[in-house]
Amino acid sequence: MIRTIILAVVLLALSSPAPAQEATRSTADGVYTRQQADAGRDLFAYACQSCHAPTQHSGAPFQSKWFGRTLGELFGYLRREMPQTDPGTMSDEEYAALTAYMMRINGMPTGSVPLAADSAALHRIRIDSVPTTAGAQRSRRR
Ligand code: HEC
Repeated sequence: MIRTIILAVVLLALSSPAPAQEATRSTADGVYTRQQADAGRDLFAYACQSCHAPTQHSGAPFQSKWFGRTLGELFGYLRREMPQTDPGTMSDEEYAALTAYMMRINGMPTGSVPLAADSAALHRIRIDSVPTTAGAQRSRRR
């Protein structure tokens, strides 16, 4: 009985985070600010560049690995795994800034509201170069 409950709990835990289909926005909607990406660039130079070149995280390699997934997945990955020698040592705001920087080096547009350092909110943003209908309308109105 206990085992069944534990199994159910584990399965539940595995079934979150929310799948990408539930994303309501796309990274082409302008989901981070320029200042945030600037902060992310400085953090990247300081904490990541010893192992990674920015080019490794842009263009085709980035597309094939991350397009269609959510920003929540990318943010969660960075928080859990990076910097590889010291994972989890940065604040959520810093991981959000790094995520914003990765959007910028992939040509995603900036917006007026910074990316929230909040995993649930980030899971609702799909990594994509195509804006959602709502996002496209917002930028047309501007
Ligand atoms: C000590 C070296 C090292 C440092 C420092 C480091 N990484 Fe990594 N990173 C790696 C290695 C090795 C992998 C591949 C891990 C794997 O495939 O399991 C990786 C994988 C990644 C990936 C996933 C692969 C991809 O191309 O999308 C991302 C994103 C990433 N790192 C971002 C960062 C960021 C952002 C930082 C700075 C906060 C950072 N890394 C710091 C070594 C490092």
